[in-house]
Amino acid sequence: MADMGHPARAIGLRLNCPRVYDKLIDMRRCQTCEDYCGGNGAEIRCGYSPDQEKASVHPRNSLNNLAGNEWLFFTKSVLQTSYPSAHGQNLRRQHGANKPPQLMEHIIEFFTKPGQSVLDPFAGVGGTLIGATLCGRRATGIELNPRWIEVYRQVCRQEGLAEQEMIEGDCLTVLEELAAAGRRFDFVVTDPPYSVALEKTLSGDRYAGKHANRRTDFDSFSSDPRDLRNLSTFEEYYQAMGRMAALLHPLLGSGGYLAVIIRDSYQGGQYLMASYEVGRRIEAAGFVMKGIKVWYGTGARVRPYGYPYAYVPNIVHQNILIFRR
Ligand SMILES: C[S@@+](CC[C@H](N)C(=O)[O-])C[C@H]1O[C@@H](n2cnc3c(N)ncnc32)[C@H](O)[C@@H]1O
Repeated sequence: MADMGHPARAIGLRLNCPRVYDKLIDMRRCQTCEDYCGGNGAEIRCGYSPDQEKASVHPRNSLNNLAGNEWLFFTKSVLQTSYPSAHGQNLRRQHGANKPPQLMEHIIEFFTKPGQSVLDPFAGVGGTLIGATLCGRRATGIELNPRWIEVYRQVCRQEGLAEQEMIEGDCLTVLEELAAAGRRFDFVVTDPPYSVALEKTLSGDRYAGKHANRRTDFDSFSSDPRDLRNLSTFEEYYQAMGRMAALLHPLLGSGGYLAVIIRDSYQGGQYLMASYEVGRRIEAAGFVMKGIKVWYGTGARVRPYGYPYAYVPNIVHQNILIFRR
């Protein structure tokens, strides 16, 4: 189980140095006062002691087990972190788009109480499933590619984690089956493919051979036609995301939350607001958008796209779209 202690607990971070451009340094940051307490092994300054008693949970808190200050911390619309490599990252890194289990734990802890159930229809190597295990929630993952399911199982064996339910298959089929079987979940959180497979115009072979900062591990996940990344157009991809949302509807109780992590794209000289398009399709499936939390993983690599002629963004953030049924 995760340390559910005081929200001011220090977390080991590698942060961009606030003074030196693009330099990563080891720091510790207090989650409450956000004071940088720099330097390796430095003490945090906010006065937090791990022995301090956890602030109490409001007696009418029906959503989670967070104290008021933990609740408010989560509602900030920006989250800037770089989580330490842990929980089998040595194995999970084979999947170029895996998510830190600590990030998923942070999200799950807000939208559920201990023991409740979480569903992830695009489970990959199990970032959500491991995050749920860390905070004592039950989880079900659906993943198309058996290779990633095997990596998740290896991680569980290596880390001594109990395996959560992982179903192999196309989520657009499996979600229907789960609904037909009368399954219900308290929360859905997922990190789907962000787009159809894009041509790498700015980080592909032509540049990658010469420039280390133009190389990318990120690649098409599979040749399976059911993989959303293998759809032909963005429009087909947006429609598939809408279909997924419609299938999730009967699986979530009334008032249940859905969180979808999406990264916008830049293609053909144009910024594509995938988050907006996916958000609209999910709303059309009967969900109300409640907010966007921007996650900036501070270690994201920056590439000299456009330099020195034109503005081309380095998209270093991802949007966590939050909906309610
Ligand atoms: C961005 S990754 C998810 C990574 C995951 N959050 C993790 O920590 O490993 C998206 C995943 O969706 C899977 N996928 C794509 N189309 C799918 C489909 N139709 N049904 C189920 N999974 C699918 C891909 O194989 C890929 O592993």
